[in-house]
Parts: sequence; C-alpha cells; structure tokens
Amino acid sequence: MKIIIAKNKEEFDRIAADMVSQQLKDKPDSVLGLATGSTPIGLYAQLVERYKKGEIDFSKVKTFNLDEYKGLPKTHPQSYYFFMFKHLFSKVNIDPENIHIPNGEVEDSAKECEEYEKNIKEAGGIDLQILGIGHNGHIGFNEPGTPFESTTSLIDLDQRTIEANSRFFDSINEVPRQAISMGIKTIMQARKIVLMISGKDKAEIAAKAIKGPVTTQVPASVLQLHPFATVLLDQEAASLL
Ligand code: F6R
Repeated sequence: MKIIIAKNKEEFDRIAADMVSQQLKDKPDSVLGLATGSTPIGLYAQLVERYKKGEIDFSKVKTFNLDEYKGLPKTHPQSYYFFMFKHLFSKVNIDPENIHIPNGEVEDSAKECEEYEKNIKEAGGIDLQILGIGHNGHIGFNEPGTPFESTTSLIDLDQRTIEANSRFFDSINEVPRQAISMGIKTIMQARKIVLMISGKDKAEIAAKAIKGPVTTQVPASVLQLHPFATVLLDQEAASLL
C-alpha cells in the first residue's frame, strides 16, 4: 500500500485529481470506478476545472459507480445518480452511454447486480477505482462482515451507515435501508485503487484499515492485499498512523 499524506484539503483534492488526470492521459478510454459521498466532491470539482481548461477529455471514458440506494428514484437529490450528474457528469464531455450506476429502482436487484458485473467485465475491467471509507471501515456499501469474495449485490445498510448518511436527509427515517453495491472482489479486481480519507473523525478507522489486521470486520483492510492501492489522507485523517 502506498500512503500519501496531503498537507491540506487543497493538496488532497489536487493529488487525487492528478492521479485521475494521469490515468486519462495514459489511457484516454480508461474505465473509472467512482465513489460518491463528501470525500470526492473536491476531486470532482478539480476534474471539472481541468476539463474546462482543456487538460482532460472524458469523451472515451467509461465509468462505473460503486453503489446506489435501493428504492430512491434517480431524480431524488440524495440518489447517487443525482449526485454524480450534479458534481461531474453534467459538467464534462462524458458520453451518457458510458455512465454506469447501479439501478436502485428495479424490482429484480439480483438480475441488476449480475448485469452490472457483466458490464464491468465487458468494458475490460476497472482501470482506476476511487474509494472513500465509512466510519465502520466500509468500502462501497460493503459493511463489516462482508466476505472478501463478494460481488455486486443488494446490501442491508449497517446502523452506523444509516446514521452517518442521515445528515443528507430530512430525517433518519428517510434514509434507505438497502443499497446495491459493487462487491469487495469487484473492487479488488480494479487495476489501481485510490482510497481517499479525510477528516479527524476518520483517523481511527484509517489506522485500522492501514495498519491493523486484514479482516472482514474492517472491509477496507483488504486493500492491504492489493498490488497497486494508494491511500491518500489529509493530516487529520493520518493523525493516528
Ligand atoms: C460512496 C461509498 C461510501 C463512501 C463512504 C464515505 O459511493 O461507496 O463507501 O465512500 O461512506 O463517505 P463520505 O465521503 O461521505 O464520508
């Protein structure tokens, strides 16, 4: 695992954007795995800026998002579909055909998950996967206890995840209880991975994921086994390393 500690938020976003930009320059038809949540918002803002300056091009890029809430319509402001269009897809020249986000609205989630895995394979696999981490160590929505062999599936959200994500909803009762998420195996098959961790409240889980035992109780610890995983932290998140 390569560890990078950024001096401040600006550098944190810039380093992540440098990694994605380099990937697109090396391979213009890259397949990117993308995350939502607070952590990558600055990265997406940087990518939009670079696109506007003509430094990067998304015309051949394919994307696969990590997850989506079960049951939220695409038009719901807290759906990950809505998030991705707001922060990135509506602002760059990506072909809508090349955007993949699990569909949380379909009834047959098992079929949706199977097709998602198939689509990733048909695209040639993920070149660069961006990840955030939950306070319980989840990556995607793979909560503690998820087997490392898991592929894309319908997940019951952990109480801690429901609580953490309730900050985006009017009340905790509105937070969906399930989500479709890429599996841990799916994530580990990406050629390169960047795990972004920011903030004091993530310091404890960052230390466990990076230095602790590799265990399904801390899903992100599996990244210690990946040959090309980088963990990018700000100084607060790195304070217990
Ligand atoms: C989001 C995702 C989650 C988040 C994690 C951290 O697509 O897969 O694993 O990355 O919950 O969320 P933030 O960045 O909001 O702290």
